[in-house]
Amino acid sequence: MPATLIIGTQWGDEGKAKVIDYLSHNIDIVVRYQGGANAGHTVKVNGDTYVFHLIPSGILYPDVICVLGGGMVIDPDAFLSELDALEKRGIQYKDRLRVADNAHILLPHQKLIDSKSEESSGNNKIGTTKRGIGVCYSDKVGRTGIRVADLYSENFYKNRLPYLVQHNNTILKKIYEVPELEIQEVTKYLRTTADKLRRYLVNVSYYLNMELASGKKIMLEGAQGTMLDLDFGTYPYVTSSNPTTGGAITGSGINFQYIENVIGITKAYVTRVGEGAFPTELFGDEAEHLRKIGNEYGATTGRPRRVGWFDVEVIRHAARVNGLHSIAMTKLDVLDSYDTIKVAVGYELSGKRISYFPSSDYENIKVLYEEFPGWKEPVHECKNFGDLPKNARRYIQAIEKFCGVPIRLISVGPSRESTILKK
Ligand code: IMP
Repeated sequence: MPATLIIGTQWGDEGKAKVIDYLSHNIDIVVRYQGGANAGHTVKVNGDTYVFHLIPSGILYPDVICVLGGGMVIDPDAFLSELDALEKRGIQYKDRLRVADNAHILLPHQKLIDSKSEESSGNNKIGTTKRGIGVCYSDKVGRTGIRVADLYSENFYKNRLPYLVQHNNTILKKIYEVPELEIQEVTKYLRTTADKLRRYLVNVSYYLNMELASGKKIMLEGAQGTMLDLDFGTYPYVTSSNPTTGGAITGSGINFQYIENVIGITKAYVTRVGEGAFPTELFGDEAEHLRKIGNEYGATTGRPRRVGWFDVEVIRHAARVNGLHSIAMTKLDVLDSYDTIKVAVGYELSGKRISYFPSSDYENIKVLYEEFPGWKEPVHECKNFGDLPKNARRYIQAIEKFCGVPIRLISVGPSRESTILKK
């Protein structure tokens, strides 16, 4: 497959990094195409745990080239500290990393504004990761952003930066009542960043399309998930980018005809962090139990994740929006101890059955459930689909049928080895 696309189908944290890591061994280039250091991708290899926020998880394979795509917002501090961490662990990355010159630079004051605006929004807070993501994308859309390429333009420093500093200072002073930016300091920060990023710069669309044309295999790595998509998620409780297929194309610049395989990553149940709709959410002891056995705490913020039962309507939505060819299901082992497992198989809204994920009125969704018998035995040592207990196979086959998408990969534990490929 020239280009394979990996997309979260739920509200993020589906275990994308583990699947990407598993599938990266015969891939030449892994590309992150949207988001920034709001993502937390955890990979476990040989007993070691790695958490990536900006750098694609493919970096753990010594021959894989990793690209930070143009749809990303790059916090230089977070990026450089991730490089330090790789260095400390002896991972050679210098010749294997590329940064799109049209990606946007995320500055410290954007993180400050993100925090301040969350603090002051009372019941309207989004529950962001406070990494400045929405502020940086707002500047991008408002044409007041700073791109990586700008850091190398004297014209930018002379004619554009003074205006941007002034523009930001009005906002910082009048709305947030925080100290203003000093042009000398911002210039110094950007020039230092320019020096550190220089060796990784790439014209991403040219580079990736040339590599594809020469037969290289590319994997596009989405962050967050379909239900956090700015256009197709549970707006306004979403992130500020498009984790879906459309975002992969604009965020990488590759010719869409190269994308031959779209894999949706799906947890065997559902989690979400932050505010917003979650039709199958569990509460109280039931939620606490699932959170604990699933170790559902955010990799970026440490926040406890909200948890709930598998929701077929969410996956059908993701299948439509992204054009999923198959599903990779993660964390099946977390459900080992359940007597019965519920699955949301449909919704009613105002007394009527609907067959789509609605764009509002989420609180009035009535969820229709089916119950499946649990398997009550550990699955983490299963190597083939046939090794799984009968009820685990039934659970998977029922979900395939409800969602209309085949499940081709099943993860039964955090390590690379705990992975089942299914025909
Ligand atoms: P932001 O992306 O920091 O602006 O946060 C917006 C929403 O997306 C919040 O509900 C966050 O919790 C959620 N979010 C952002 N990144 C991730 C992620 O990597 N996993 C799960 N949720 C995320």
